[in-house]
Amino acid sequence: MNDHITIPDYSDWTADQITYQIMDQHHEYVRRKVPAINALLNKAIKQIAQPLPALTEIRSKFYTLGEELLEHLDEEENEIFPYILQLTSAQKLNTEIALPHLINASRPIHRMENDHLNVRQQMARIRLLCADFDAPRDAPEAFVRACIMLKEFEADLQLHIYLEDNILFPSICKLETELKK
Ligand SMILES: [Fe+2]
Ligand SMILES: [Fe+2]
Repeated sequence: MNDHITIPDYSDWTADQITYQIMDQHHEYVRRKVPAINALLNKAIKQIAQPLPALTEIRSKFYTLGEELLEHLDEEENEIFPYILQLTSAQKLNTEIALPHLINASRPIHRMENDHLNVRQQMARIRLLCADFDAPRDAPEAFVRACIMLKEFEADLQLHIYLEDNILFPSICKLETELKK
């Protein structure tokens, strides 16, 4: 986690509120920005006669990262998030969840955490290739804009992953254990 990322105070938030916040804010953001950044990087390559190898590598790496991340969001929204909402609802209503519906969240959570690690490494590689998102003065205008967007994208991703790994997932493992008692 970068030092410059400000973490809002989520101490009063319930797991379902955090889940909706992640979907409405961070997942929506990724779905909007991935195609926009891909388009800008494509435009930047067209704006120069001989694209630099680094630029084509940035485009290819961001394209791969985007594809993997979008798949990851779908997986969270189809598997672990509905389960989190089910658990929090059971807790609120003080109802029991039938055992077959308790899936043991640790396995899918572990998979999500591995994806996070992978995506952060890919993003770090892109940052390195972009010289910390500081475009050279003579860079094509589309690349300058892409660097600004990539920097914001990385900051949002850091917060998004922090929320899942450090707040949401641990709280859900704890809740699952309590409901199993
Ligand atoms: Fe997510
Ligand atoms: Fe995630």
